[in-house]
Amino acid sequence: MSDVITFFDTTLRDGEQSPGCSMDTAEKLEVAKALVDLGVDVIEAGFPIASPGDFEAVQKIAQKFGDQSTICGLARCRKEDIDSAWGALQDAQNVRIHVFLATSAIHRDFKLKMAKEEIVRRAVDMVKYTCDQMASRSDIVTPNVEFSPEDAARTELDFLCEVVEKTIAAGATTVNIPDTVGYATPNHFFKVISYLKENVSNIDQAVISTHCHNDLGLAVANSLAGIEAGARQVECTINGLGERAGNAALEELAMAIRTRGDYYGVTTNINTQKLCSTSRLVSKITGMAVQRNKAIVGQNAFAHEAGIHQHGMLQERTTYEIMRPQDVGYVGTNLVLGKHSGRHAFRDRVESLGYDLSEESFQKAFEAFIALADKKKEIFDVDIVALVDNQTSSE
Ligand code: KIV
Ligand code: ZN
Repeated sequence: MSDVITFFDTTLRDGEQSPGCSMDTAEKLEVAKALVDLGVDVIEAGFPIASPGDFEAVQKIAQKFGDQSTICGLARCRKEDIDSAWGALQDAQNVRIHVFLATSAIHRDFKLKMAKEEIVRRAVDMVKYTCDQMASRSDIVTPNVEFSPEDAARTELDFLCEVVEKTIAAGATTVNIPDTVGYATPNHFFKVISYLKENVSNIDQAVISTHCHNDLGLAVANSLAGIEAGARQVECTINGLGERAGNAALEELAMAIRTRGDYYGVTTNINTQKLCSTSRLVSKITGMAVQRNKAIVGQNAFAHEAGIHQHGMLQERTTYEIMRPQDVGYVGTNLVLGKHSGRHAFRDRVESLGYDLSEESFQKAFEAFIALADKKKEIFDVDIVALVDNQTSSE
């Protein structure tokens, strides 16, 4: 039996921290609805203490979608942050509070100016405080509290173990291991998660989560390495939106698990057919264009132009495709006609446009197509219709 990986989407929190990507409450509600339809397990709706607008958006999302997904709010290890998060979330049926505190030496010395003992004490106290606040609601038996040691990937492993063990003992049900600055590599991240599994005595009482940033372009690879080592939650964003180079892209993780799930022995609750439409929605709302060759949701992700590839695809699509375009919500494979296309792809398109040409007409039309393709980057159906009609009318 395979494990189901919890998908924790942070498009509305870490994603929104992407320069120029802020969203208003109406837009956030639209994205939250799409995330629910996509089958996301946990939606991090925002950072309620950050602004009245953030508070309002988290509250509305919690009220509207808290019965369909778990709604989460972020808080630093401070009572006022936790009170604000709980204030925004308390109406949600399924609710989580995510508290974080940095643990690496760089953050301890330069940002927090706190010693190790103080970090442990503050983290433990605030996890307990969060549990107590949430337990004030009579239907909450085990408060759903996540703790993140920020910059975990650059934290001394023994200290990381101590913080993780003590915050689990204090009540954290998920421990998230952020690679805050995208410094890790897959082998490194695998070792961090494995070390925690082996050295934290109560690790089985919590879910281990990954939160990988993409500064070295390794966020998805690192998250998969985390899963291989035993993580069972991944934090990610639509289109990989997020601070600097972004976070692990949800669509890439979902399809990596779907395509290579046998290897990892895991599945997801993600309705992958909604990936393209969700990607388009987030791109439209944030104004952040998706690069053409972006994996899974880019315009070229299922496009084939080379003649040899197109010929192979027309015989058997698995020659050059490892996923079915329909599985991510694409309408169909896109055989782009251009100067690299061969006669097989051209014949296929001409026939699908309803023409039944003699061999001689086909040959002439193909020569006209190649001449046009030398001048134009892409050939559209209207161009083909024009050149075939032109060809047949002159006969
Ligand atoms: O990258 C990070 O460390 C974060 C934390 C708040 C989890 O976003
Ligand atoms: Zn982050």
